[in-house]
Amino acid sequence: MPKIPNSAVNGVITGWGRALPEKVVTNADLAKTLDTSDEWIIERTGIERRHIGGSTASLSIESGRKAIEMSGVDPSTIDALILSTTTPDRTVPATSAAVQHGLGLRCGAFDVNAACSGFVYALVAGHGLLAIGLKRVLIIGTDTLSRITDWTDRNTAILFADGSGAAVLESVDGPGQLLGWDIDADGSLEDLLYAEIGGTLKMEGKEVFRRAVRIMVDSAEKSLAAAGLTSNDITLVAPHQANVRIIEAACKRLNIPMSKVSWVGNESGNTSSASIPLALFEAADTNRLKTGDNVLLVGFGAGMTAASAIIKWKQP
Ligand code: ACO
Repeated sequence: MPKIPNSAVNGVITGWGRALPEKVVTNADLAKTLDTSDEWIIERTGIERRHIGGSTASLSIESGRKAIEMSGVDPSTIDALILSTTTPDRTVPATSAAVQHGLGLRCGAFDVNAACSGFVYALVAGHGLLAIGLKRVLIIGTDTLSRITDWTDRNTAILFADGSGAAVLESVDGPGQLLGWDIDADGSLEDLLYAEIGGTLKMEGKEVFRRAVRIMVDSAEKSLAAAGLTSNDITLVAPHQANVRIIEAACKRLNIPMSKVSWVGNESGNTSSASIPLALFEAADTNRLKTGDNVLLVGFGAGMTAASAIIKWKQP
């Protein structure tokens, strides 16, 4: 990916929000109807429980409202809304339309679907909009994977869940937060993980696992190179929360210790578009981040897509 020109208008995150449905489903709950166990799920994935419920619009409105409140911006001054989701509430229109209305915004709104890499795609697209003149962009990553999960399939039902994370991006003159980025896709791998329209997720788990490690490392290395940094410069990683073993394997190859990783998948499972912002903003809310820290966001997903970004944290 190209280096970001020094002259580029850039952005900073000035507010964020998270939303999880109230209903919690534990591994033990799943073991009541599936041939699985709490021990197996924890050992193979790191997931202990997940939140299930809500619609993509309702969760997005909740996280989006928190982000707007935290940033203190007047909602009428938000210039665009980008919603990353793989699970829109309707085929038509884009779910971002309902979210825009629910938040009382008056701006362009569109959906992005890059599966679990989607929030980083939205972050990059949001910076692109700032670079061509917009001042404030709301980006949201939300998925309600429970609606397309086959709850009788132990290969997938133990992984997927619902949630949302949102951020207000505001333009600044000169250098901003984004230091390097990468987006990628390899459509020849689409059959590894897919859901037909109206259907449920089908997955070749082992192969997804193997590829995921490789493409996360590859994408992270491209972003590091674009930013002119090495993995030693990274203070915190907010990776896609698919499986803690995938994250461990990728971080080992990147030479980043797990102590620098924000892992929330134990509490919230794989929430696709929401997983990176949930991990990032959990770290921010628990004082793991300070101004000047270099944060690596990195994800992979159905497609197969990959995306990463390095941001220099600025505590609002
Ligand atoms: N409970 C108990 N046993 C199970 C379960 C289960 N839920 N699932 C599989 N098993 C069994 C298998 O049948 C197999 O038994 P066998 O040895 O008798 O044949 C054994 O456990 C091992 O199965 P594996 O498939 O080898 O288990 P693995 O360690 O690979 O873990 C998993 C499976 C968790 C699915 C893993 O491969 C994985 O996480 N893959 C990546 C999935 C992923 O990240 N998907 C999301 C992509 S992002 C997006 O776009 C949504």
